[in-house]
Amino acid sequence: MRVLITGGAGFIGSNAARRFRELGHDVVLFDNLSRPAARYNLRWLQSLHPQVRFVQGDVRNEDDLSIIGQEPFDAILHLAAQVAAGSASRSASRATSEA
Ligand SMILES: NC(=O)c1ccc[n+]([C@@H]2O[C@H](COP(=O)([O-])OP(=O)(O)OC[C@H]3O[C@@H](n4cnc5c(N)ncnc54)[C@H](O)[C@@H]3O)[C@@H](O)[C@H]2O)c1
Repeated sequence: MRVLITGGAGFIGSNAARRFRELGHDVVLFDNLSRPAARYNLRWLQSLHPQVRFVQGDVRNEDDLSIIGQEPFDAILHLAAQVAAGSASRSASRATSEA
């Protein structure tokens, strides 16, 4: 199976990717590396499974998504998100005031 994981360099994404690789699946990670721990998670995962492909991009950006948009995937795990409620609400206020 070929699996795309958005937010793949995050806590759940990197651990899920590790498990998918252990089960013999192909994994592509898509992440904008906005979370400080993401780079660390990515290095950890790629040291265990160098075959894991990483695409840096933002799910809000159509051009970034087009990099992976043409590829066939059997499953997509969508985990890209702002987890902290504080930063999510700050972004929402910024977007509202800019509109
Ligand atoms: N960790 C938990 O216990 C838990 C529990 C319930 C639900 N969740 C949900 O699961 C999801 C993943 O959680 P996590 O703990 O792995 O979070 P995480 O912050 O470790 O991972 C999220 C990843 O998404 C990336 N990201 C953020 N915005 C992005 C964007 N616009 N485009 C591309 N990448 C982007 C970040 O760089 C990060 O690597 C979140 O939606 C979270 O709310 C997590």
